[in-house]
Amino acid sequence: MVLPHSMPLVPLPLAARVGDGRMPVSEAVRVIGDPRPVEQLITAIAERTGIRLSRSDRNGDSAGTVISLTIDPDAAGPEGYTLTVGESVEIVGGDEAGLFYGTRTLLQLLRQDDEGWGFLHSEISDAPRFERRGVMLDVTRHFFTVAEVLKFIDATSALKFNHLHLHLTDDQGWRIQIDSWPKLTTSASQTAAGGDPGGFYSKAEYRTIVEYAAARHMIVIPEIDLPGHTHAIGVAYPELVEAPVLNDGLIAESARLGQPLPVQGEPYLGWGVGHSSVRIHDERTYGFVRDVVREIAELTPGPYIHIGGDESLGTPQADFDVFVERATAIVVEQGKIPIAWHEVGAAAGIAEGTIGQYWGKTTPEGTHAEEAAHFVERGGALIMSPADVAYLDMKYSDDFPLGLTWAGVVDVRRAYDWEPTAVLDVPEAAIIGVEAPLWSETTRTIGDVEQLVFPRAAAQAEIAWSPRDAPERTWESFRARLATLAPLWETARIDFHRAEEIPWTDR
Ligand code: ACM
Repeated sequence: MVLPHSMPLVPLPLAARVGDGRMPVSEAVRVIGDPRPVEQLITAIAERTGIRLSRSDRNGDSAGTVISLTIDPDAAGPEGYTLTVGESVEIVGGDEAGLFYGTRTLLQLLRQDDEGWGFLHSEISDAPRFERRGVMLDVTRHFFTVAEVLKFIDATSALKFNHLHLHLTDDQGWRIQIDSWPKLTTSASQTAAGGDPGGFYSKAEYRTIVEYAAARHMIVIPEIDLPGHTHAIGVAYPELVEAPVLNDGLIAESARLGQPLPVQGEPYLGWGVGHSSVRIHDERTYGFVRDVVREIAELTPGPYIHIGGDESLGTPQADFDVFVERATAIVVEQGKIPIAWHEVGAAAGIAEGTIGQYWGKTTPEGTHAEEAAHFVERGGALIMSPADVAYLDMKYSDDFPLGLTWAGVVDVRRAYDWEPTAVLDVPEAAIIGVEAPLWSETTRTIGDVEQLVFPRAAAQAEIAWSPRDAPERTWESFRARLATLAPLWETARIDFHRAEEIPWTDR
């Protein structure tokens, strides 16, 4: 008896039948469609198999075995697609993004057996559950090069993530060129956590990232973290930042880690939080914020600018409220939609439509739930990043060499077993999606990042994309399907963590 092939797809599609038959892959197979998706697919298949398929333009001869790529808004909704693998392959996207996701699914159906490479016979109809499926990369605590960020985009867009949040500024370094405040790059960018090398993206480099992401249907969300997490600004421009406020938690944590306490105007290389604040009652601060937001907006074709707002423990609450009300208004004034961490919801008058990012626990503590709900009351919405399940920088186990544990120890199963609409008491429609953040205090290389991100990002991808009630939306099904991504990640040279919970396959 031939056992049915375990469906090798993550995230789980809306409806899929995958059979045991294969459509063989050879150089005789031609790919037909618009140049960009055709070229992207041919390149990806060649990287995986060494077989370079040929291309035909849309009007070309369709005899022989073909992979046809088309768009038809009647065939599927936004970001959706249909895919059939039989004698040939047909992918129809509801739009360009849907076509791209259809090709990412096809790449997961590409398997090698004793007879060579083939696409598993299948019939799939797919569309996302949430419109927003994000990952975040902290490039401040440690800096990652443009090439490393592009590799991260390839790996995450393959899981159908459509937003890349870049945490560009923090106490340890400033990472983006701002022409009107040049010392941010000549001075504030030069450092990173632990004394590791700093760095920054020139505007041209940043545009390269944005364009590369757009070609893979990812919107880049730039974050300028304010009014806290701003120590590095004070290294470049001391007049903008208050003296550090040393809270008990910071003092205890710094002692435990053997890290010096922050000193005003000097680089801070530890990873304590909550000590820095821009000067709330100095108009120069708002001139700075306006200049930075304007220059970032010019670099940002996407609709959002994230203004941070987390852990501003050194900013008195009344000052914090004044600041975030003004900062969200400045983002709106520059034609963008503000996003902020949930603490910003404490301020009554945040700009209408501001989107909140909830990073509390799956059982909310203190005032976190109320703060999050206030974004909805102001006509905004919420992105869910609960730290005890969705934070990619938590350790997999107590003894894992990378990562932190303050929100918990998050194995793959824990990362998978949560429901975004069940955390807060807000209307379901107010939850517009999920984001999985990677904070980089302990990740000194992109390989370290990959160890923490993969495979857990795949769990967040499935939570964000797949239908909540599908019979295969179970841990047992997920771990079997996830196992089949190993050869794809190997080919892409992604240094994923071979978690023991997953029965990894070789091909
Ligand atoms: C955060 O983890 N401070 C948003």
